[in-house]
Amino acid sequence: MTDERGAGGGIGGPEETGGTGGTGRAGGGGGATAAGRWPVSRKTLLKAALVAVPVPALLGGGAALARDHRPSDAPLEPTPFCDDGDDPTPPQTEGPYFKPNSPERASLLEPGTRGTRLTVSGFVFGLTCQPVAQALMDFWQADDAGAYDNRGFRMRGHQYTDARGAFTLTTIVPGLYPGRTRHIHVKVQAPGGRVLTTQLYFPGEPRNNTDPIFNAALLMNVRQAGPAKQATFDFVITSGRRGR
Ligand SMILES: [Fe+2]
Repeated sequence: MTDERGAGGGIGGPEETGGTGGTGRAGGGGGATAAGRWPVSRKTLLKAALVAVPVPALLGGGAALARDHRPSDAPLEPTPFCDDGDDPTPPQTEGPYFKPNSPERASLLEPGTRGTRLTVSGFVFGLTCQPVAQALMDFWQADDAGAYDNRGFRMRGHQYTDARGAFTLTTIVPGLYPGRTRHIHVKVQAPGGRVLTTQLYFPGEPRNNTDPIFNAALLMNVRQAGPAKQATFDFVITSGRRGR
C-alpha cells in the first residue's frame, strides 16, 4: 500500500544539503563534518566506551552508541551525511541508485535472497538524546553480488521507528561493487523534518582504507551470530520533534 508520508512523499522532500557539491563529503579524514563543532567527538566517545565496557564479541572493535549518552554530557554529534562516490552528478546526494516509493517493510529478504543474513538495529535520537518516534527510514543496498535493482525494489524498503525511536532492518550483507567499500544506504527523516541521507559501513573491510567517502563515524557495531551477523547503529538527527 502506498504510504502518504512514505518514501515517495517524505523522502522526496528537501535535502539537508550539508554534503552537496562534492566539497562537503563526510569521508576520508572526516574533516568537513559537523564533528568539529562539538567538544566531545565521536572518537572520544569511542575511546571512553572501549575503556569502560569491553565488548569482545564485536567484530573490528566497537563504536559508541548514542543510547549510552548521559543527559549531563555534551550534546550528541549529528550523524554525518554521506554522499555517494559513484554518483556522476554530485548534487544528487542520494546517489544514482536511490528510488522513491520503496515498499514499506522491515525485512528486505525475499524468497531466494542469497547472502549472509544481517540485522541492523538501533535508535534514532535528536541532539539531546530524545528518541524520535515515527521517523521514516528508507534503506537501499546492493545484493549479494554487488548489484542494485534499478527496475524493481529488491533490497529496498522503508519503515518507521517505534515509540522508543527504535528500528530493526532484516537484510543481507551487501556485496561489493567497484570503487566502493561495503555499505548500506539510508535516508532518515523525522516527522516533518529534513532528510538525512547517509550510509552505514562495516568494520574490518579492507576497502574502508581506500574508499574516499568512507567515514569511520558511520561504522556499525557488528557481531557474528552463528551464520548471521547482527549490527547496531544509532542515528542522531538534527531535525527531530521539538523543532530540532
Ligand atoms: Fe551504493
